[in-house]
Amino acid sequence: MFTRWSYISTSQFDATHVEKHIQEIVDISIPRNRSLDVTGALLFTGNRFAQYLEGAPSAIEELKASILRDPRHGEIRTIASGETPHRHFLTWSLAYAGPSQFVSDIIERALNDALEKGDEGLEALIQMMSEFSIRGRG
Ligand SMILES: Cc1cc2nc3c(=O)[nH]c(=O)nc-3n(C[C@H](O)[C@H](O)[C@H](O)COP(=O)(O)O)c2cc1C
Repeated sequence: MFTRWSYISTSQFDATHVEKHIQEIVDISIPRNRSLDVTGALLFTGNRFAQYLEGAPSAIEELKASILRDPRHGEIRTIASGETPHRHFLTWSLAYAGPSQFVSDIIERALNDALEKGDEGLEALIQMMSEFSIRGRG
């Protein structure tokens, strides 16, 4: 049996050098998670983090203590914790997705669906186009 911990938090990064700040977190996390036999994922939207970690209870507690006192984020709200029967990120010490990659993956998927599925894919493409749009109304 493994323990998992998942939370959503708000970034405290200043607007400049965001990529550099993220790189520092990822560079420290990958080897540390690996040495603790923890696996998981980190998603960064540009404003908020979502993280999912899984491993032995003591390892998750150790990481949790570090992450909770980290001033680079705040308003940390746990969305799941406790036992889990299996790992979701078996081969990932920390699967990281940042804003541009995250958005472009969604768009790429919608474009491929539109090409492959015709009308059905078009519905999803139209939905995405209207949700993502920020100007041009009227
Ligand atoms: C959003 C966020 C996610 C983090 N995720 C991890 C992680 O998965 N593993 C890790 O070792 N450190 C992670 N860190 C960094 C830790 O908070 C901490 O700075 C680092 O592990 C060093 O621990 P220490 O401050 O107790 O020495 C994360 C930091 C932030 C802000």
